[in-house]
Amino acid sequence: MRREATYVSAVLATLIVGACTSIEQLAPPVDEAMLAAMAPRGGVAAGRIEHGRTIYVTKCARCHSPERVTKYSLERWGEILPRMAHEASLPSEDEAAVQMYIKAVIRAQPEAGADSRAESQRVEP
Ligand code: HEC
Repeated sequence: MRREATYVSAVLATLIVGACTSIEQLAPPVDEAMLAAMAPRGGVAAGRIEHGRTIYVTKCARCHSPERVTKYSLERWGEILPRMAHEASLPSEDEAAVQMYIKAVIRAQPEAGADSRAESQRVEP
């Protein structure tokens, strides 16, 4: 009995920790690398990208869990996002903010294996 309780708490702890790390991996928080990646294109206010992420992890997660941003190319997102923004009834500023966030995440991706960020953002096969 005691042993089972230990086992159950170990499983629960794993699940909880897993859940916490996964949202960060699916939709990484806005960081310097993302802002820098957007800078050559005229720069984008950090607040807009942050807002885009907030929409991504809330309104975009209403019907399904958030997809890993890096699962799709920017080209594919160009097809998916307008459709999903419509599903989520996003006002156009919110759709634009989500688009900025997605671009920032994808453009900030380091070359595979370049550093530890690559490990957490590597696209699974
Ligand atoms: C009203 C429910 C709903 C909301 C809100 C919603 N989705 Fe979806 N999403 C779906 C359904 C249903 C599918 C699967 C069928 C499809 O592709 O249309 C889907 C599929 C997807 C896919 C996979 C598409 C593919 O071609 O494989 C992605 C990525 C996605 N959603 C992202 C988003 C994003 C980003 C948002 C926020 C802008 C969002 N979704 C909001 C219902 C929703």
